[in-house]
Formats: sequence, C-alpha cells, structure tokens
Amino acid sequence: MAINTALHFGLLTLSIAGIATCQNNTSGLSKQVFAAIDSRNDQLRTVNREIWENPETAMEEVHAHEVLTSFLEDQGFTVTRSAFNLSTAFKAVYSNGEGRSVSFNAEYDALPGIGHACGHNLIATSSVAAAVGVKEALENQGVTGTVVVLGTPAEESIGGKIKMLDAGAYENLDCSIMAHPGNNAYGAWSRTLASWRANVTWTGKASHAALAPWQGQNALDGFVAAYQMTGLYRQQLMTTDRIHHIIKNTDNLVTNVIPDRVESEWGVRGTNRARQAVVIDQLNSIVEGSASGTNTTVFLTKVQDYWDQNPSFQLAKTYYNYLIEYFDPSKDESTSEFSISTPEQEYEDGGSPSASSDQGNVSWFLPSIQVGFPIGGTAPNHNAGFTKVAGTDFAHDQAITVSKVLALTALEVLQNATYAEAMKKEWEEMIAALQF
Ligand SMILES: *[C@@H]1O[C@H](CO)[C@@H](O)[C@H](O)[C@H]1NC(C)=O
Ligand SMILES: *[C@@H]1O[C@H](CO)[C@@H](O)[C@H](O)[C@H]1NC(C)=O
Ligand SMILES: *[C@@H]1O[C@H](CO)[C@@H](O)[C@H](O)[C@H]1NC(C)=O
Ligand SMILES: *[C@@H]1O[C@H](CO)[C@@H](O)[C@H](O)[C@H]1NC(C)=O
Ligand SMILES: *[C@@H]1O[C@H](CO)[C@@H](O)[C@H](O)[C@H]1NC(C)=O
Ligand SMILES: *[C@@H]1O[C@H](CO)[C@@H](O)[C@H](O)[C@H]1NC(C)=O
Ligand SMILES: *[C@@H]1O[C@H](CO)[C@@H](O)[C@H](O)[C@H]1NC(C)=O
Ligand SMILES: [Zn+2]
Ligand SMILES: [Zn+2]
Repeated sequence: MAINTALHFGLLTLSIAGIATCQNNTSGLSKQVFAAIDSRNDQLRTVNREIWENPETAMEEVHAHEVLTSFLEDQGFTVTRSAFNLSTAFKAVYSNGEGRSVSFNAEYDALPGIGHACGHNLIATSSVAAAVGVKEALENQGVTGTVVVLGTPAEESIGGKIKMLDAGAYENLDCSIMAHPGNNAYGAWSRTLASWRANVTWTGKASHAALAPWQGQNALDGFVAAYQMTGLYRQQLMTTDRIHHIIKNTDNLVTNVIPDRVESEWGVRGTNRARQAVVIDQLNSIVEGSASGTNTTVFLTKVQDYWDQNPSFQLAKTYYNYLIEYFDPSKDESTSEFSISTPEQEYEDGGSPSASSDQGNVSWFLPSIQVGFPIGGTAPNHNAGFTKVAGTDFAHDQAITVSKVLALTALEVLQNATYAEAMKKEWEEMIAALQF
C-alpha cells in the first residue's frame, strides 16, 4: 500500500514535463529517417524471417546473433559479437562524435517447443530498423550523437539484460528503447510485473510402493502439499499477484516406486518488489511446512529476479505523440480496431502490468520505454497460435511502422538537450519515489 502511494506520487510529478514538440524541421528529418528504413525493408524482412524460421531458445541464439550482427555490420555499425562475455549477446555502435547516446534492445530468443510465440523476431527487427533510421540522421542529416543496438539474449529465462547491466552495457547511455508485440493494443507507458523464479526440490527416500512403502519418504507428497497450500493461499492474493509452478523431472516418477526426488520451478510475480516479497515470504513458509509435514527435505534456489518495469513517462508521451502524428492507427483500416490509450490514461491505470521482462531491471538503471504494438490474432503470447501471427507480413509491417516512431523518439533525446535533461530529472524523481 505504501508503495502504491509512493508510485502515484512519483508519477504525478511526471506529468508536469512538457509534451515534446518538433525539432527544427522534424517533418523534413522524419522523411529522411523513414526513407532510410523503407529502403532497407527487403533486408529487414529477411532478418525477421531468418530469426522467425529458425527459433532458438535462451543462450542458444547462434543463428539470430549471426544474422543480426552481419546485417548491422553491412549497415556500417561497429559490431562486437559475443559481447559482455555472453556468446549470443552483441553490441553495435554508430557515432559521429560528441553528444548524447541512445540505445535499442534487440531480443531474439524463442520458447522451447513453440518457436517465436513471444514474437521476439519482431523486437529484433524493430530495434535494428530504428537504429538504421537514427544512423541516417547522424550520418546525413546533421544530428550529433551515438546510436547503440544491444543484442540481449535469454529474455525468457536467465535474463541477458541483467548480466549485461552487471557487465556495464548500459553505462553512459541516455535511454533504452524497445518495443514488444501483443495481440490487439498499442501501449506507450507499459509497466511489467516483478518476476521471481526458484528451483524447489524435495528429496525423500525411495522404496517399493507395495513391499515397503512405510520405509519411503515421499518427495511427491512434499510437492503436492505445497501445491495445495499455495492453492488455499490464492484466496488471500491480490489480483495482480501471480504464482505458477511446474514439475520438471516427471520422467523419474513411476507408480511402483515411492518418489525420492521431485524437482520443480516456482514463479512469483507482483506489481512491485515490495508486494512480491510478501508473497515469497509466505511461499517459503509453505515450502518448509510441506517438507516437515511429509518427512522430506526441501531446497529452494533462486533462478530469476526481474524487477518491475517503470518506464519514462516523457519518452512514452513522445512516442505516443509521434505515433498519432505520423501513423494514427485509427486512420488506417488495418489497425483501426486495435485499442490505444493515451499515456495519461495508462498512468491512471498504473501501467496495467501483466507480463514481466528483464527490461524491468534496465528501467531502474536509466530512462527507458518498452512500447507495446498489436499484430492481431486471438492466440495469446506464449501460445503456438501467436508464433504463426508473429511470422506474418502484417506483423512485419507493424514492426517497421513502430521502428520509425522509436527512431523519432530517440532523435528527440539526441537533438534536444532541454528535453534530455527533463527526461533524466523526471526519471530520477520517479525512481526515488519507488525505492523501498
Ligand atoms: C521541412 O522539410 C520538408 C521536407 O524537406 C519541407 O517540405 C518543408 O517545407 C520544411 N518545412 C519548414 C518549415 O522548413
Ligand atoms: C565469462 O564467462 C565464463 C562462463 O561462461 C566465466 O567462467 C568467466 O569467468 C567469465 N569471464 C569474465 C571476464 O567475466
Ligand atoms: C537545430 O537548430 C539548432 C539551433 O538553431 C542547431 O544548433 C542544430 O544543429 C539544429 N539541428 C538540426 C538537426 O538541424
Ligand atoms: C521419516 O522417514 C524415515 C525413513 O523412513 C523414518 O526413519 C522416520 O521415522 C520418519 N520420520 C517421521 C517423523 O515419520
Ligand atoms: C535450476 O534447475 C535447472 C534444472 O532443471 C538447472 O539447469 C539450473 O542450473 C538450476 N538453477 C540453479 C540456480 O540452481
Ligand atoms: C536486477 O536483477 C538482479 C537479480 O537478478 C538484482 O540483484 C539487481 O539488483 C536488479 N536490479 C538492477 C537495477 O540491476
Ligand atoms: C526541447 O524540449 C523541450 C522540453 O520538452 C521543449 O519545451 C522544447 O520545445 C523542445 N525544443 C525544440 C526545438 O523542439
Ligand atoms: Zn515472452
Ligand atoms: Zn516477450
């Protein structure tokens, strides 16, 4: 509750900052930026298709890494492959000297068994396209500064961005920008839930299930007891809390042996880390109780800790304003049925956090946005139906449109010092109000 109040206070101060207006002649600059992106559309389509057709899971994204780094090198970026001691991470830079630095995150990991069911092929495509647009402004349109693409692996598991943050990848950058596809809504100020995952393993003692069951200690009972207690606990949860579990070593379970080992993974999400900590505390008690109540032993090891995402309100407003100015979705029949809220409405709704991302951690480190864009379909993210939609021409076109708006948003940061300072100040105030 205290945190909710703080969050609200922090954001109220944000709305004071003025709406970004056009730089010297943004319509002239935007034309050049859009043309630069459009002229590479065939290559961008190939990049997108190569990643989508060859799905690779977390830390195995070898082909995507190759396709993206080759493309960016061809485009004149200085590329570091396997950057930050991560084999499938990269950094690509174009700079014309002094000035500020903007960055785009490219994700490209798929999900086990169902391919690009989160559409990360489109994240990679929109980010490299946006970078190409910004590079055009730097190279040929008199804008000063640096554009960076960070290739960020393993969003769906260990969180490449967190390892990259620790390795200094986000030092000396003024902002971090990216986009994520979904079904049917545009979002500019999209928050995400804090996400924590742990390996939880019960061990007992195997024994013949008929001959000597009394000599066994049933690890499955440990898991089931905890699962049941979690089910009861759900009545006390808030609507924004999430708990999920899976059993991982089912191959070892057979009916005529008392199970001596059950490996599981538990996920806990909350609208912020303070709330999440309350739920995790209770789960620790549940897990301990389940072990003592079943005469088994349990170990819990944290495997993921994504913080809640708190984007820059100023960047979100700029993104939204440029989207409406150049590509108003309500004016195009292919996009008019999708929903769109103003950043002010999103803020009133608390950013509607639902999923989670390692971009959450990034958002605590520097001003950032992760905008949402619709690609249609009814199958949700992480369903094989979404994989199909993520491979369509329409989805590609949406990623390209979004990339243009991302590029203009980044150019505002590069071109306007007053804007960049206001963005930083607003973000610092928001983060200070969020600390607990
Ligand atoms: C801005 O640039 C566009 C395209 O280059 C040009 O047509 C327009 O006249 C310019 N506007 C101003 C106010 O200079
Ligand atoms: C790089 O990562 C490997 C493991 O993948 C680790 O053993 C090594 O210490 C790391 N090196 C640095 C410089 O962090
Ligand atoms: C915009 O105008 C300012 C001041 O007139 C100038 O310093 C800056 O270089 C211009 N930027 C571009 C992109 O032309
Ligand atoms: C736990 O299981 C072991 C092994 O079967 C047994 O020796 C012990 O008495 C059991 N403890 C309780 C409290 O049931
Ligand atoms: C969690 O369990 C998986 C196996 O299911 C293992 O690969 C991973 O290393 C474990 N993580 C930690 C932090 O123990
Ligand atoms: C991000 O995540 C790690 C844990 O994975 C955490 O320890 C760290 O403090 C988080 N926050 C930031 C801003 O990096
Ligand atoms: C620069 O940004 C400030 C703050 O957002 C804004 O008031 C001003 O109009 C912008 N200047 C230009 C030239 O766009
Ligand atoms: Zn996902
Ligand atoms: Zn995703």
